[in-house]
Amino acid sequence: MRTLAVVGGGVIGSAVAWRAAEAGWSVTVFDPAPGTGSSWVAGGMLAPLSEGWPGETEALRFGAASLSRWPAFAQALHRTTGIDVLVATATLTVALDAADAADLRTIAEFAGTQGHPMRLLDRADVRNTESALARTVRAGLLAPEPAADNRLLLQALADAGAATGVRVRPEPVTTLDDLNHDHVVLSPGAAAATLWPQLPIRPVKGEILRLRHRPGTPPPPAHVVRARVHGRSLYLVPRANGLVVGATQYEAGFDTTVTVAGVRDLIADAEAVLPGIGEYELAEAAAGSRPTTPDNLPLIGPLTDRVIVAAGHGRNGILGVPLTADAVLALLAGDTLPEAKAADPHRFPQISGGTR
Ligand code: GLY
Repeated sequence: MRTLAVVGGGVIGSAVAWRAAEAGWSVTVFDPAPGTGSSWVAGGMLAPLSEGWPGETEALRFGAASLSRWPAFAQALHRTTGIDVLVATATLTVALDAADAADLRTIAEFAGTQGHPMRLLDRADVRNTESALARTVRAGLLAPEPAADNRLLLQALADAGAATGVRVRPEPVTTLDDLNHDHVVLSPGAAAATLWPQLPIRPVKGEILRLRHRPGTPPPPAHVVRARVHGRSLYLVPRANGLVVGATQYEAGFDTTVTVAGVRDLIADAEAVLPGIGEYELAEAAAGSRPTTPDNLPLIGPLTDRVIVAAGHGRNGILGVPLTADAVLALLAGDTLPEAKAADPHRFPQISGGTR
């Protein structure tokens, strides 16, 4: 049986490990604290269409290709583990002023040219869709994009991996030379460049809140709700008992301290869109390091004959799980997946071949 080491036990590494074990590989995941990094902090939006913008065609295509795989991926996880990880069926992006409303039309037009029609909503339609939104919301855009509960996803992937024979070694890897496996998948998120310095992946800090619904307060939205408030991007992602509010964005190295200003902005922006959340319980504030590349597309491909990188998913790690797993499985079988071509790491000239 051929052996595979997966370095990094977040959602990307865990999904690759599970699928590779199913395909007959003997798989070991190395991670000192599996599932505790940015995968644990994430909101779980699956919104490549709502976040599309003219000129960013590759990002939309890559994201849409992964989004289209999500239903079957979630069903397979459910069959194996009994865990249903999807939490909403659609994403509603709302406009608070005329400039935002114009942006929604731009996004809808662009997605339409790429074969993804979306529905523009007027003020009344928005209220019929999500009645608890602020009266200041003047337009909306509805996209067929669900969301995933990132923590249920981590649990389901761990269970599915265990059921298919994946071994987890809770220890760090300091050099890939220590691994004698036939193949290595490098998926340690923002830390990838510490193991492979040529990889252009840097941490981008993001803070996020988890709010718990309390009896007698308005229920959480049924949709993922996105908005821009005071120039800042906001999202509200439903959970079984509340919602996730995200996210701040800073260049702060590997700092994951939750700041007063971050929490203040997230609460103020969320209340501007959904006033009822002031009565919710503030259950958690957390920060993570998004593994970010210069062009906001991930790096998925061979670094040597033995080492494959699957990292750099930035703000879209949860979205990218099914396509990344398929792409890595194809590479392990000596093939390539056309939909993942834009993520070829060799688009960056500093990534040359090596021998490890
Ligand atoms: N998943 C969205 C973010 O990173 O803020």
